[in-house]
Amino acid sequence: MTRLKVGIAGCGLVTQVEHLPNLINLPKLFEVVAIADPSATVREALSARHGLRAFESATEMMTAGLDAIVIATPDSYHADLAVAALERGLHVFSEKPLAYNTADIARIIAARDKAGRVMQVGYMKRFDPAYLMLCDLLRTVDGPLRAVTVDVLDSGSDPFVAHHDMVVGTDVPKALIEEGAARRAAQVKVALGTDADPLVTRGFSGPYSSSLVHDLNVVQGLLDAAGAKMGKPVGAAFIAGNSGGYLSAKLDPTDGLVTMTWMATPRLAYYCERISMVFDDRNFELRFPSPYLNHHLTELIERRANGLALEEIRHRPSYAEPFVEELKAWHAAIVDGAPVVNTAEQAATDMGLFATFAKLALAK
Ligand SMILES: NC(=O)c1ccc[n+]([C@@H]2O[C@H](COP(=O)([O-])OP(=O)(O)OC[C@H]3O[C@@H](n4cnc5c(N)ncnc54)[C@H](O)[C@@H]3O)[C@@H](O)[C@H]2O)c1
Repeated sequence: MTRLKVGIAGCGLVTQVEHLPNLINLPKLFEVVAIADPSATVREALSARHGLRAFESATEMMTAGLDAIVIATPDSYHADLAVAALERGLHVFSEKPLAYNTADIARIIAARDKAGRVMQVGYMKRFDPAYLMLCDLLRTVDGPLRAVTVDVLDSGSDPFVAHHDMVVGTDVPKALIEEGAARRAAQVKVALGTDADPLVTRGFSGPYSSSLVHDLNVVQGLLDAAGAKMGKPVGAAFIAGNSGGYLSAKLDPTDGLVTMTWMATPRLAYYCERISMVFDDRNFELRFPSPYLNHHLTELIERRANGLALEEIRHRPSYAEPFVEELKAWHAAIVDGAPVVNTAEQAATDMGLFATFAKLALAK
């Protein structure tokens, strides 16, 4: 089995809680050789802890004899780093959102096709055993899909990662933080086709692109399995001081509706992420735990009517961890030529839809 030499760009929360330990725990598939982070505190601590070469700059790290790179920097750096890595012949795994606008995603697709390398997006929920089982169940259901509802209450990560020995750097240069913010505003402006005020930039980059993007992507996969599609957008809003988001669209070909609501609840140490699929005599519900709780089950509940009685089934397909499964699939795509599950094209569809919804929200 080919062992891939991997570097990780960006060593904050998701790298320390997920990607770095998960890659290290797959030693037959990956050898983590280097990390890059502008925080000296973070890179020096992780380098000492795991015996890795440490770089201040991700592009410099790309010259360190890598086969592949994991990009887990702030969002506004994903596109440039992905293109630079592909141009160097590296395989790429990039966290979501792949980019804020479809023009940047088109640049990544062109670089991927020119390089002939694998480019996978970090939509780990597509590897969740409960999601995969629901897809299988949906393929067997007759009758029209009436509604899909998504609701998320997100307290942020703190309650779910406080027990980890994380290294947090307060020494990222101020100029780099300002550059990141300026990049984000410029990239959101391209997505919306207009100057967005800081609150709209926050609504688009936060609730929509950073969080609901997982649900939009999962819903697209579930709709495929159910033989339906997202149709005409009918509603959109940024809510609660643009720290929350709402969107809705018609279902195609039925007259059903998809609605999604996401709220930041930073003072409520609780995480709720629920997707419900409604048919005339059946309902399926997925309840995701906070993504940082490894091997916690996503609940899949199936409810079937039997006249006035109801049968409720709680499925438990497996304890496999989506964040680990996505890495195995990335390796299989690189080494065995397996199809890439989460493509840049899917990311382009997601971000194109968000731009449409955001424009609808702004038009009101
Ligand atoms: N798949 C998921 O569920 C999931 C969960 C969390 C985060 N994410 C995504 O992962 C990415 C990172 O999120 P996070 O929560 O770990 O953020 P974070 O702020 O905790 O960490 C980001 C790290 O990147 C470093 N950094 C900043 N600019 C950099 C640059 N130019 N090059 C290299 N490193 C740089 C920072 O110093 C910091 O250590 C984001 O895109 C986020 O959307 C995905």
